[in-house]
Amino acid sequence: MIFGCRHFGMGAKDGRPGPGPEEIEHVEAAFTVLSLIYAFCASDFMPNLRILDIDGHERIMKKAIKVINKYHDPIIEERMRRWRTDGGVDDEPEDILDVFISLKDDKGKPLLTMEEIKAQAAELIFATVDNPSNTVEWAMAEMLNQPDILRKAIDELNHVVGPHRLVEESDFPNLPYLKACAREALRLHPIAPFNLPHVSSTDTTVTGFFIPKGSQVLLSRVGLGRNPKVWEDPMRFNPDRHFNEKNVGLDEPDLRFISFSGGRRGCIGAQLGTMMTYMLLARVLHAFTWSLPAGEELVNLSEEEHSLFMAKPLHALAKPRLYFLS
Ligand code: HEM
Repeated sequence: MIFGCRHFGMGAKDGRPGPGPEEIEHVEAAFTVLSLIYAFCASDFMPNLRILDIDGHERIMKKAIKVINKYHDPIIEERMRRWRTDGGVDDEPEDILDVFISLKDDKGKPLLTMEEIKAQAAELIFATVDNPSNTVEWAMAEMLNQPDILRKAIDELNHVVGPHRLVEESDFPNLPYLKACAREALRLHPIAPFNLPHVSSTDTTVTGFFIPKGSQVLLSRVGLGRNPKVWEDPMRFNPDRHFNEKNVGLDEPDLRFISFSGGRRGCIGAQLGTMMTYMLLARVLHAFTWSLPAGEELVNLSEEEHSLFMAKPLHALAKPRLYFLS
C-alpha cells in the first residue's frame, strides 16, 4: 500500500480496490489549488500585471478549478433543483449541501446563491483533503522506524478494541497513546511551513514585536512546532512528550505548534478533523499488520525539496489481521 495524500496506492491501476480515475483527478486538482496558496505571485503586489499571468498561476488554477467544478456542479445543481421542485430530499439523510440550500435570511429568502454554495463546497474540500492524510502518513512512517512506539499503539488498540470489531469513535477516550502519536505527527510534520496568510487589522504588539496595521502575517508552523526552546529534542518523534498533558488532543490553544490555529479565523472543522485523523490512524493500525518491503530496513524520512510532504511516499506492506475482514 502506498500512503500519501497526493499519491494513491491500494491497486488503483491494477484492478484491485482503490480510488478510481475520477477520484484521483478530483483530489489531484484539489492539491494543485492548495499548492499555490503560499506561492509568490507578482500580480498580488502589482495588480496591473495580472493580465500577463507572469508566473502562470492563473492558468494552472483555472484548469484545476475547472476539474473541481466538473465534479461538484452537477451534484449541487441537481440538489438545488430537487429542493426547488420537491422541497427537499426526503428519502436520504440531510447532508451539508441540504443545509446550505435550506438556509434562509430574516425575510425567509434563500441565504446563499448557487455560486456561493459552490464556493463553500469547494472551500470545504480544500480545507479537509490534506491534513489528516498527511498526518497519518508521517505518523505511520515514524512509527515504522520506531517499532517500540508502533507496538505500544497496537497493544493499546488490542487491549481497548480487541480482534472482534472495528475501532469506533467511542473508543477514542480510551486510546491516549494513539492520540499522542497523531498529535506528535501534527507537531513535527505540519502540512505547510506557514499558517494561512492573514493581514493585521490594527497596530498590535505580540511578545514584544510591533506589528503595524496592514502587515501580512505568516506564522511559521515549523518554527513553532520544531522550536528547541519549547520542545526538547524537537526533531525526534516522541509521542510520550504529550502524555503528561491533561487531555491529549490535537488542538493547541497555546500555539506551541499550530494544529487548528485559533481566534476568529481558526479552523472551523477542528472536531471533525480530529476525529478523521484518529479514525484513519486507528483503523490502519488496528486492521493490518505493517512491515516494510523486502530489503528496506528504515523508512526514508526526508521531506520534499519545496514542501513538507514526504519526499518519497510511504510504501509499506499491509497484512489483514482482523479475521472478519479477510
Ligand atoms: C486535522 C485536520 C485539520 C487541520 C490540522 C486543520 C487546520 C487548519 C488551520 C491551521 C487553519 C487556518 C487557521 C488560520 O488561518 O488561523 C484551518 C482553516 C480552516 N479549516 Fe481546517 N483543519 C483540519 C480539518 C478541517 C476540516 C475537516 C474542515 C471542514 C469540515 C476544515 C475547515 C476549515 C476552514 C473552512 C478553514 C478556513 C477558516 C477561515 O478562514 O475562516 N478544516 N484549518
